[in-house]
Amino acid sequence: MTWDKYARQAQGWSENAYTDRETYLARRAELIRTLGPELHPGGTVLDLACGDGGLADFLPDQRYLGVDASAEMVASGRARGRQVIEADLNVFVPPEPVDATTIFRAIYYARDRRALLTRIGAYTTGKLVFDLNPRQYRLADVRGDLEAAGFDRLATHPFFVPQTRAPSRALQLLERSGPVAQLVLRLRFTLICAAWRASS
Ligand SMILES: C[S@@+](CC[C@H](N)C(=O)[O-])C[C@H]1O[C@@H](n2cnc3c(N)ncnc32)[C@H](O)[C@@H]1O
Repeated sequence: MTWDKYARQAQGWSENAYTDRETYLARRAELIRTLGPELHPGGTVLDLACGDGGLADFLPDQRYLGVDASAEMVASGRARGRQVIEADLNVFVPPEPVDATTIFRAIYYARDRRALLTRIGAYTTGKLVFDLNPRQYRLADVRGDLEAAGFDRLATHPFFVPQTRAPSRALQLLERSGPVAQLVLRLRFTLICAAWRASS
């Protein structure tokens, strides 16, 4: 299974996967909150392929629900007091609609991306936020799948916070540099994407 390899990494995932967990996840949470329609306090955020749910600490005013297919990741998240359900993101449907759905470092676990986005669109009332490696996937292809799933609005933002090196303020300033940021993205880093419906 695609998640088997994470069993051994589940204990202490957030601390070990990110050199500076605080900066990395806080910046991710800031973009989840602000890219596209703003999140309102008290909303529900569904985090698919959540790992140990470390993101929850940085969205304290949201009701956080994590989903992960790895039993070990789920146990790790629950041991931290997070609400995490064990399920495959390709088939999971939450008991009630959610305000926002997120997928980080896991969009490539979609068996059929368009089908997954359509499923998410059926239970997400606000927006979908995810990260994308533009060297691996063409943004135009992803946009096409999002539109087919009913998400007719898309905002993107470069995300220049390194996972395994110390973050740098200068790099973060480059996120807003337009053409220079596009050059950087040809070599490294990811884009954060927020998709929503104009009517929502
Ligand atoms: C690279 S980690 C990312 C974890 C977290 N989102 C983060 O950014 O730190 C990928 C996660 O996806 C989970 N995963 C892999 N395939 C999955 C699937 N089909 N459904 C749900 N979770 C899956 C793994 O167990 C693992 O926790």
